[in-house]
Amino acid sequence: MNDGENFFDLTDSHLFVGYYPLIIAISCEKNSSLNDLLQNINNIKTVFGESKDKIQAKLILKKINTLEFDEVKLFIFEGVKGSHRFLSKFHILTNSLRYKLTAEKKINIYLKGNLYEQVKIAYSIPRKILLVTLGKNNMFNIFPTDINGRIGKHNFVISLRTNGKANKQVKELKKIVLSEMSADAYQEVYALGANHIEDLRAKKEFDLSEKLSEKFSIPLPNNALRYFELEFINDMQTGVHNLCFFKIVNSVNIEGSKSTLAHIHRDYAEWRINNGIISEFLLR
Ligand SMILES: Cc1cc2nc3c(=O)[nH]c(=O)nc-3n(C[C@H](O)[C@H](O)[C@H](O)COP(=O)(O)O)c2cc1C
Repeated sequence: MNDGENFFDLTDSHLFVGYYPLIIAISCEKNSSLNDLLQNINNIKTVFGESKDKIQAKLILKKINTLEFDEVKLFIFEGVKGSHRFLSKFHILTNSLRYKLTAEKKINIYLKGNLYEQVKIAYSIPRKILLVTLGKNNMFNIFPTDINGRIGKHNFVISLRTNGKANKQVKELKKIVLSEMSADAYQEVYALGANHIEDLRAKKEFDLSEKLSEKFSIPLPNNALRYFELEFINDMQTGVHNLCFFKIVNSVNIEGSKSTLAHIHRDYAEWRINNGIISEFLLR
């Protein structure tokens, strides 16, 4: 973040938690200089790049809410305008035309005009894809989430479509397991996206492990590297998404040597390739 005088590195403290509108949250300790600054301003300019001097994108954000957690404050911002140089102006135009013509507007949310560019910028930082498992009376659901994040030491937020069954299930059942996944499992994880709009089903319908989580006894997904047991506290609606806030009850590391599944937007991946930055990608 760049406010003219100060430069704050928010790489680890910002969370991408909504895309209609774009929602970015910033967590910071209550008695920090960043807290003092964010408390007193409404609009901020964030920059995205490899370093302070190599900037590829800018995002202007406006503050819409401030929440308090144990030792941290969470400042919630909405996207106002984004600009980037991932591709040439011509390439951006042809990509947005292709998106306009091919996007499945009835199934997915259609991101109009500058909002689509803001979302690409947010996805220029790798976003971990985690799996939520929940259930009761031997009936379960398991679905991926990529708009989520940790708030300080004790809390988590997961952003779920307000009209989806996943959101309703989380609010009703309150206890969930959130698993970081191995990058090898990317095809299985993507295939679970449709479960956001499915009812709970018998365990045999899912490819779940025989292992249960330590405290809630919820089945773990295969290929989980690490998991958190989370208890729902409350929620807040922002556009089409509902921010579900949780308390971390337990966290367990299972496997430390494999890469964690995360994704970035194609335009930024192309920029990396065009600029000779060596990166390993799995294409879907
Ligand atoms: C990798 C991945 C991550 C997702 N993350 C979220 C999420 O964090 N919140 C949410 O409401 N939906 C999430 N979804 C669900 C999608 O927004 C969408 O509703 C779902 O994928 C639609 O089904 P389809 O994949 O069959 O088109 C995710 C889907 C995938 C594949």
